Amino acid sequence: MVEPVAQPHITFTAYRLVVDFVNRVVAWDGWRGRVMATVMAQGNADMENAAVELVNPKPDANIVMIGCGPGVGVVAGARRAPNGMVIGIDPSPVMVERTRTRCRRERVEQVTKVERAAAESLPVPDDSQDAVVSVNNIQLWNDRAVGLDECVRVLAPGGVVVVLLHTWAIPDAVPDDEWVAQLCADLSARDLRVEPPQTRRFRSGPAVVILGRSEV
Ligand SMILES: C[S@@+](CC[C@H](N)C(=O)[O-])C[C@H]1O[C@@H](n2cnc3c(N)ncnc32)[C@H](O)[C@@H]1O
Repeated sequence: MVEPVAQPHITFTAYRLVVDFVNRVVAWDGWRGRVMATVMAQGNADMENAAVELVNPKPDANIVMIGCGPGVGVVAGARRAPNGMVIGIDPSPVMVERTRTRCRRERVEQVTKVERAAAESLPVPDDSQDAVVSVNNIQLWNDRAVGLDECVRVLAPGGVVVVLLHTWAIPDAVPDDEWVAQLCADLSARDLRVEPPQTRRFRSGPAVVILGRSEV
């Protein structure tokens, strides 16, 4: 029988850091990021559009799209809020560039801003957003608690947080329903009124849909 070899702590830590880095950043940047941006612009467009429909923004709404990827939702938001402002944020330079290009091409530059940033540090003032939207990225946040604190910090009274995530992207560590229940509890703990979560089918597969509203 082969005895398991104890890994020195430093090796395990280094391994975790490398895997985290690959999962969180490298896949979304460079040539892989460009491929993924093209794939996602087609494959996830219905989810990004659905998220904006769930916000149901007023024409002068302010919306932040976290992890905007290739920017389909940023353009959709700008079309629904032509007198407002849609901020797309993404830590990947490739995604930022793709979103800016899309906004230019679709002539919504005047009502959009695209910034390189992560959910954990939103470059957005307190109490300023009517909606905070995250499609297919909450599972990638380095620190979900900090990211959720940021969502609530920037949300204006009466605003809404909308989270969509493919069910197949829910981390394996816990059963899907437990993961969803925990996220709803985390939002409720931040004084959001959370609607019962739903599962909806999209082109790229089923996704969980979660909405939390702040008090007016
Ligand atoms: C699966 S893609 C989804 C893109 C787009 N929302 C969509 O559904 O097509 C995940 C995106 O999240 C971004 N991302 C990774 N870590 C993030 C973080 N900590 N905060 C915000 N976005 C992050 C990635 O750069 C990538 O563009």
